[in-house]
Amino acid sequence: MPVPAPCPDSRAVVTGASQGIGEALAHELAARGHHLIITARRAEVLEQVAARITERHGVTVEVRPVDLADPQQRAGLADELAGRDISILCANAGTATFGPVAKLDPAGEKAQVQLNVLGVHDLVLAVLPGMLARRAGGILISGSAAGNSPIPNNATYAASKAFANTFSESLRGELKGSGVHVTLLAPGPVRTEIPDPAEASLVDRLIPDFLWISVEHTAQLSLDGLAHNKMRVVPGLTSKAMSVASGYAPRAIVTPIVGLVYKKLGGG
Ligand SMILES: NC(=O)c1ccc[n+]([C@@H]2O[C@H](COP(=O)([O-])OP(=O)(O)OC[C@H]3O[C@@H](n4cnc5c(N)ncnc54)[C@H](OP(=O)(O)O)[C@@H]3O)[C@@H](O)[C@H]2O)c1
Repeated sequence: MPVPAPCPDSRAVVTGASQGIGEALAHELAARGHHLIITARRAEVLEQVAARITERHGVTVEVRPVDLADPQQRAGLADELAGRDISILCANAGTATFGPVAKLDPAGEKAQVQLNVLGVHDLVLAVLPGMLARRAGGILISGSAAGNSPIPNNATYAASKAFANTFSESLRGELKGSGVHVTLLAPGPVRTEIPDPAEASLVDRLIPDFLWISVEHTAQLSLDGLAHNKMRVVPGLTSKAMSVASGYAPRAIVTPIVGLVYKKLGGG
């Protein structure tokens, strides 16, 4: 059975839906007729996203302001989702830091692991039993091309995305024939809009415009991939090049080069 068709009682959940890829996923799911639960920390922004989606697509959007790096808040959301009919989970929220771990704020690094690793794991474990019982469901996990191999100066992020990548593709292998689809989104650079040159970040300046892809395109590819139970969606040329380099080039050669690039991103 394909990813469940929309129905009035079921909900598609998107984490990190207040901006970026998550917001685009929420819009695209709504355009495909799904009623939603959207979550992120900023309640006011989420309410505005929800209002725009409902106005455009006429679906119900429930808003859950939750800090997924906080174990208690995360458990509250997971408990709710475990008791609901969740047709699709887009475990998308994630953050990154750049620079040597020893120089970064330890609290921020720990919060990143809570969000990027446990924010995925806990919610998947919450919705999986219901999906299996219904023999229908879709789980889209936002990993990253950065999770394919070691990245000095991006260590916590790269390791957390290695978890997301491997967990997603392992789970998919376990769920063959169960009716539950699992797809990994492993992008390289994706952005919402071309920034004003005066405000462009170092990442924006280092990567030429033609190599970026849009959040809308990423969301469409991801949900098409999930519908077809694709193992991995790798949107855009840069992501594909990163995947090939990390898959075939020897780590001992590639890692120091990548580390130097990320050193620049960390302002070093
Ligand atoms: N964009 C890229 O180039 C790219 C490339 C590879 C992988 N990815 C992955 O794709 C996903 C989405 O990326 P993006 O660029 O769209 O991200 P983004 O624009 O930075 O948005 C991150 C989202 O996560 C939410 N969030 C952040 N911290 C949170 C927390 N503690 N608890 C709950 N929600 C939190 C943010 O909302 P609040 O601030 O309101 O909480 C926001 O909605 C991430 O997992 C990212 O690692 C992105």
